[in-house]
Amino acid sequence: MTSDQMTSAGSELHSAASLLAEAGIDSARSDAEWLMAHVLDVDRGSLAFVDGPDAGERRRFRELVAQRARRIPLQHIIGRAAFGPIDLAVGPGVFVPRPETELILEWAVENLRGISHPLVADLCSGSGALAIAIAVSVPSARVVAVEKSPSALLWLRRNVENLGVGDRVAVLGADVTDYAQLSDHIPDGSLDLIVANPPYVPTDTDVSPEVEADPAEAVFAGHDGMSVITPLADVAARLLAPSGRIGVEHDDSTSSQVIGAFEATGRFDDVVARRDLAGRPRVVTARRRP
Ligand SMILES: C[S@@+](CC[C@H](N)C(=O)[O-])C[C@H]1O[C@@H](n2cnc3c(N)ncnc32)[C@H](O)[C@@H]1O
Repeated sequence: MTSDQMTSAGSELHSAASLLAEAGIDSARSDAEWLMAHVLDVDRGSLAFVDGPDAGERRRFRELVAQRARRIPLQHIIGRAAFGPIDLAVGPGVFVPRPETELILEWAVENLRGISHPLVADLCSGSGALAIAIAVSVPSARVVAVEKSPSALLWLRRNVENLGVGDRVAVLGADVTDYAQLSDHIPDGSLDLIVANPPYVPTDTDVSPEVEADPAEAVFAGHDGMSVITPLADVAARLLAPSGRIGVEHDDSTSSQVIGAFEATGRFDDVVARRDLAGRPRVVTARRRP
């Protein structure tokens, strides 16, 4: 990169970051870098080492910054979201995977260690983030990715195909709260592990414009945020093998209700509330009684 181009990339990023910060975006500088990397078609980490932007690229960059300043999600603009070891195609009609869900991914990979050829279900799979990341991280695993939204299923099938895991990730269009819909495809007592990042936000919660861009059915779950998790606990109790484990992400205000939902089935022990890096309770894990 010549020093002129370096200056222009630096000053473009600086102005973009100021504009995005004024629009209320906390991650303004990093979003500006993602957009620049997208326009220049390079990794964000390589930005300092590449040529550009030329006049056309600067124009395109400013257009994308203007979109982001209108609070269109970054991932909708660049068309992808990073999640653990994978990059997923995302856009309108599917939930954008969030970094906090990697807590469940790490827990799942850790718990699958030592199980040969485990069978896993990702209930409420969305773009396939957890299902595909588990299949990539644990090459002997087979995963059933269950999702009910027709628009999300399109993204899910596309990601499974693009990421080359179609031989080990089966996509099932079904409602995870309806045991009858799942039991035709997943035998009782067959799953070694379940992961779920279901909708869990109480309906009267104010959310950011980026969350408003996610499908409402992916986010909200009744007045208490429990309308999917409570029935899901019952369904999971039937499908899990003895000693099989489940990890469910939830709202940081509902940890005790989620623990209560698992305990109320009478079929789980080792029910544990887990906290994210900020110390908020965000995941409950449990073990199907042996
Ligand atoms: C919070 S998103 C999570 C998506 C993905 N697991 C992730 O972590 O990025 C919840 C997903 O559950 C789906 N969903 C909501 N209710 C459902 C139900 N009853 N059965 C199956 N899927 C459901 C939504 O369409 C959405 O894709």
